[in-house]
Amino acid sequence: MIHQYKHLIHSTRHFENLNIQAGSDYRYQDILSLESFELANKEISSWDRYESTPLHSLSDLASDSGVSLIAYKDESHRFSLKSFKALGGAYAVANLLIKKLKEQGIEAKSSDLIAGTYSEITSKITVCCATDGNHGRSVAWGAQKFGCNCEIYIHSTVSVVREEAIAKYGAIVNRIKGNYDESVHIAADVAESNGYYVVSDTSYEGYTDIPKDVMQGYTVMVDEAMKQMEEVPTHVFLQGGVGGFPAAVVSYLVESLDCPPIFVVVEPTNADCLFQSAVNGEPTVVHGDLDTVMAGLACGEVSLLAWSILKSYVPHFLSIQDDSISKTMQLLANRDKPIIAGESAVAGLAGFLIATNDDTLKSKLMLNENSRILFFGTEGDTDETMYKQLVGRSSEEVMRGV
Ligand SMILES: Cc1ncc(COP(=O)(O)O)c(C=O)c1O
Repeated sequence: MIHQYKHLIHSTRHFENLNIQAGSDYRYQDILSLESFELANKEISSWDRYESTPLHSLSDLASDSGVSLIAYKDESHRFSLKSFKALGGAYAVANLLIKKLKEQGIEAKSSDLIAGTYSEITSKITVCCATDGNHGRSVAWGAQKFGCNCEIYIHSTVSVVREEAIAKYGAIVNRIKGNYDESVHIAADVAESNGYYVVSDTSYEGYTDIPKDVMQGYTVMVDEAMKQMEEVPTHVFLQGGVGGFPAAVVSYLVESLDCPPIFVVVEPTNADCLFQSAVNGEPTVVHGDLDTVMAGLACGEVSLLAWSILKSYVPHFLSIQDDSISKTMQLLANRDKPIIAGESAVAGLAGFLIATNDDTLKSKLMLNENSRILFFGTEGDTDETMYKQLVGRSSEEVMRGV
């Protein structure tokens, strides 16, 4: 089965970052920390319908690819939003409202916001962000849940399915003409002129506090995975957009483990801003339409905070073409116990399967029969139409085995 990925090795690029910091000396507590994870965990785990998402063992794939173990954390079950992003944006909205109330001398928790205790104050607040889908859905969901208004900016190629999924939570959704990065700039300008609060998953010069909360929310998923795994992983393959998700995983594991795993960041070739930043040794913008089927990863500018963590602890960057994606989604859908994974969820797994077909790359990544690999399947069928197009069946049909 994994030989189907052999021909893809020629279109895959690898960069080895030799400037990483050895060992487990974590020094970015001002960005993400185990201490702040505890706060995020306390709030998020108090939300209705919170539960740990499943961790699947893919033992057949492990033996096929010559490694000891493959664990797949399945975020298609995260709340009703079908992606890990539910943890980040919504947590940042809650925290923002809690801070605003504090400025008025009110000590509140997210449970007070859910109960509507301070709705008279929170209903005058508007949160705003740019998104390629999943983050905006989380912010809109959080705004509805915690009682404030929400305005979202999407770029020209975000699908109508994703647009409707955001609007469903009562947010105003505006479509702009340019790409993701342009939508980020427009959202920031609109917020500035209207007194809205930007709740972005990416950080930039002068805007860092809220993206920290977003990323810290993601670490709840990492903590769950570590509790579910019997042995710590030797490798974690992480799909990257602006870098917030991989940075959250890296921060948690480097700070908590004596011997952290080897991290491999995987991106689409047309939107490989983390890869290019690693090559150049500094944040590097990728221009163009950032066209890729991996909608959640279509970002051309790194998140500055995320980048400072990634550059220090990630030794390997892979840039892959779109052609491995539908194959990998089908691989998971066609299992005896099917897994529903969206386009951006499988990038890490696709990168791994390509790498295992090349002896040189395999040895550079130190992949062998003792390796224990962890993947985060970061979304389910968040775009149902695209899922059906790429897999050939809807997620319901996959689950029913038809
Ligand atoms: C499903 C999915 N996986 C991974 C990512 C990457 O996260 P980040 O942009 O924080 O690197 C995204 C981003 O939107 C996503 O939607």
